[in-house]
Amino acid sequence: MAKFPDIRLRRLRSSDGLRRLTRETGLSVDNLIYPLFVAEGNNLRYEIDSMPGIYCTTPDLLPVEIEELNKLGIKAVLLFGIPVSKDEAGTGAYDGSGVIEHAIEAIKATCPDITVITDICLCEYTTHGHCGVIKNNLIDNDSTLPLLARMAVSHANAGADMVAPSDMMDGRVAAIRHSLDENGFPGLPIMAYSAKFASAFYGPFRDAVKSSPSFGNRSSYQMAPTNPREALREIEQDIIEGADIVMVKPALAYLDIINRASSLFNVPIAAYNVSGEYSMVKMAAKNNLVNERELIPEILMSIKRAGAGIIITYHAKEFASWQSNGGI
Ligand code: PBG
Repeated sequence: MAKFPDIRLRRLRSSDGLRRLTRETGLSVDNLIYPLFVAEGNNLRYEIDSMPGIYCTTPDLLPVEIEELNKLGIKAVLLFGIPVSKDEAGTGAYDGSGVIEHAIEAIKATCPDITVITDICLCEYTTHGHCGVIKNNLIDNDSTLPLLARMAVSHANAGADMVAPSDMMDGRVAAIRHSLDENGFPGLPIMAYSAKFASAFYGPFRDAVKSSPSFGNRSSYQMAPTNPREALREIEQDIIEGADIVMVKPALAYLDIINRASSLFNVPIAAYNVSGEYSMVKMAAKNNLVNERELIPEILMSIKRAGAGIIITYHAKEFASWQSNGGI
């Protein structure tokens, strides 16, 4: 087998033209989803303390945000709702006229071709902050399912293009699929948060939506970071139940799961570059520890290289603006 000095791997790195020509991984704005925080109310737009550069907006001010995204070529958003009041059963999530339904209508009125994806989970709407309903101090799986299904149908009725269950209850993809089909939405896809790990990387998000559990933690439903094989079973089950896209979350500490999922399953793989991953970069850049203009593309490229075709990221706007100014 040929080796140095006949083989010189640096030959193909010797000019920008050759480096571009031999690039193995590319990333387009088409692959990105931008998460949007929407608060119930009017005329409010504020920066989230724990996530510099990320704003929470009331539905009436969403058109400004959506036009900006549209100009940057970002064509998909994932919505999270922040209701004014919460209760034990998370009623605001599925009563049919909540903050997300209003947000969908505002977005569709501004820019009908933006793909609107909605998070399906009770934690932003429950006083206890858990992702399901509580029975005897436990998070009850089966009585949560019909509520998640109602939430999904309500978002579909308001005009959502895809729903994304993030609760990690067993059987929720099937429950949502059946309800969507029965209610006239057989063509509406489900992007399942399939391998969602119980992670400390969600810290800034929970601060943003005030969804930290008031007792205990999420380890009885979210995945243990130690268990890659169980994560693959979760993904497999969601595919069997009818998930159209499966997601691994968080992204960076779980690149091995993304990689194994993409070689094992022939469905699109999404990865969620979560709030803690975002804020760590922002804090490091603010303290001049890293150059974010170089670091962010490197991070996003690693997620793509691992095997995620779709990346949900708070960096989408920055990436899109850099890419349109000369390419990455
Ligand atoms: C709700 C939900 C969470 C995130 C997305 N959906 C938080 C959680 O599970 O506690 C996290 C997103 C992020 O950190 O960017 N279940």
